[in-house]
Amino acid sequence: MGEWIEIGHIDDIPPQAARTVATAFGDIAVFRTVDDRFFAVRDRCPHKGGPLSQGIVHGGRVACPLHNWVIDLATGEAVAPDKGCAHRYAVKVEAGRVYLGALAR
Ligand code: FES
Repeated sequence: MGEWIEIGHIDDIPPQAARTVATAFGDIAVFRTVDDRFFAVRDRCPHKGGPLSQGIVHGGRVACPLHNWVIDLATGEAVAPDKGCAHRYAVKVEAGRVYLGALAR
C-alpha cells in the first residue's frame, strides 16, 4: 500500500460534485455523494476520455458529461451495457480531512 496524500477539507468538495487532484497517475477526480461518501476514480472516462469530474453525480454513480456513460464510483466500472473501468483509488476521511491513497489502487 502506498502513502496517503491529504487533499483538503471535506467542505472543499461540495456534495454531488468532485474535485480533481493532479498525481503521477494523471488527474484523479475525488467525488462526494449527497450522503457524504467519498470516492476517487481517474478523471478519464473509459469510453473516450471525458472528464468524469464534470459529470452529474447521482447516488454512488457519475454520468460522463460527454456521452452519458454511467460509472459506478465504488468500483470505477462502467454500468452495463457499457464496459470499461476508470480505475478507482482509495479515499479516507479523518477528522474532516480527505486523504487520497494515490499509490494504493
Ligand atoms: S467519453 Fe464518457 S461517455 Fe463518451
